[in-house]
Amino acid sequence: MKGLLFAASEGLPFIKSGGLADVIGSLPQCINDHEFRVAVVMPLYKKIMDNFELEEVDSFHVQSGLIDKEAVLYHTNLNDIDYYFIRQDDYFNRDGMYGFADDGERFAFYNKAVLEMLPFLPFEVNIIHSHDWHTGMIPILCKQEYRDKKYHKIKHVYTIHNLAFQGNFPKEMTRYFNLDYKFYQYGDIKFDDGISFMKAAVTYADKVTTVSESYAQEILTDEFGERMQSVLNSRKADLVGIVNGIDTEIWNPETDKYIPYNYSVNALANKKKCKNALQNRLGLRVADDVLLVGMVSRLTWQKGAALLIEKMHQIMGQDIQLVILGTGDNYIENQLKKIEYDYPHRAVFYCGYSEELAHEVYAGVDLFLMPSLFEPCGISQLISMRYGTLPLVRETGGLKDTVEPYNEYDQTGTGFSFKYFSGDELMYILKYAIHVYYYKQKDWKKLMRNAMKKDVSWQLSAKKYEKLYKSLF
Ligand code: ADP
Ligand code: GLC
Repeated sequence: MKGLLFAASEGLPFIKSGGLADVIGSLPQCINDHEFRVAVVMPLYKKIMDNFELEEVDSFHVQSGLIDKEAVLYHTNLNDIDYYFIRQDDYFNRDGMYGFADDGERFAFYNKAVLEMLPFLPFEVNIIHSHDWHTGMIPILCKQEYRDKKYHKIKHVYTIHNLAFQGNFPKEMTRYFNLDYKFYQYGDIKFDDGISFMKAAVTYADKVTTVSESYAQEILTDEFGERMQSVLNSRKADLVGIVNGIDTEIWNPETDKYIPYNYSVNALANKKKCKNALQNRLGLRVADDVLLVGMVSRLTWQKGAALLIEKMHQIMGQDIQLVILGTGDNYIENQLKKIEYDYPHRAVFYCGYSEELAHEVYAGVDLFLMPSLFEPCGISQLISMRYGTLPLVRETGGLKDTVEPYNEYDQTGTGFSFKYFSGDELMYILKYAIHVYYYKQKDWKKLMRNAMKKDVSWQLSAKKYEKLYKSLF
């Protein structure tokens, strides 16, 4: 039995800002527990402290350069998975998780604390699976700074969920690590004139993964490499793409407690009732015969906001209703706020984060928009398909790998897609989808059933991770 520790910056059911939390909340539970003893660690943020009862395990000191801070280790067990939390109130007892001026220092501390906590765990850790830039220094720290602690046998898997966020900081950040200057000088952690958590991870992890096969290819190119392409190319032999799944128990229209009516692929009538309930809740005209288009998203440029803003009047010129649930970039939020004003009772922008409303939107809308500029995997299109809501996506990264476009000749497909990142292409395919909805209702129903039958669980991908973990020994 191998000890496997997932180290991340967020995870359900404790805290979430995006798809990373979905993955950390679901993948560990799908790893074969006869072969791996699985645990998860994350920082103890204020929100977790306020909402969960945890037991204190122990405390220890973390020396980051000249700074000495105490870390208190907390624990809970949920569905047979051990969850550990690193408490350090100066760093994590704040509203929000990221976006602070001292993020580098906060996560440098966290990375070190993850290694310092290992002796306090009731099992030996053989593999650390770390995720995104927030945990990027773990492999190099383990193999260099903490080498004397005999951690050198630990194997490291590092997953890139989003290459756009690299954890790049000024050179002065090196003072938080007790690493020899040569690791900066020779480029192991150096990026431009500073350091990069992401680069350190890509360089030092035994295996690097990302969250879809297409994105694993894309990040090797100039277009998607985010200036990390040459580092990634140097690790090409150890880079694999494994597509995400979703928690099919939480996201299950047959049992979902957040939605007003439950339904299944063989009993779809209640989906219409969910639609009407959503229209009613949001002040839209309650009607079955209008195409209800939805979006649940972080509002960043990654998500194709530029196309939506450019084409908003044309989009609303169609016979549709629109609901957008999201929060993020101020400019995008402000642009979207205008649509409610311009199209009363036809368009709603719910500016904020709401788990509950997200479920209602996935269940209630007919078509889900995801015209991303790039998309490492995407969780939202997987949820949509599970709820019989057809995704309309751009063919990039995981969207390309998971959404099969409608083929009108044999009625196959699970959604709609367009290739180039252009407003005109988006409009073309949106009009096509609208046409199918109004004039080829049988086909639309068939697509709904195809989508709902698609396997979006972790079953296959968890096996791939297990195989990867085993290949390390
Ligand atoms: P990303 O991680 O890039 O934001 P994903 O599609 O992988 O994109 O995952 C996004 C996750 O966050 C989905 O579970 C989605 O439902 C959820 N989500 C995004 N924005 C909101 C919001 N405003 N309210 C509730 N859930 C949201
Ligand atoms: C990132 C990506 C998203 C992916 C998620 C989980 O946030 O933007 O595409 O689904 O991580 O892997």
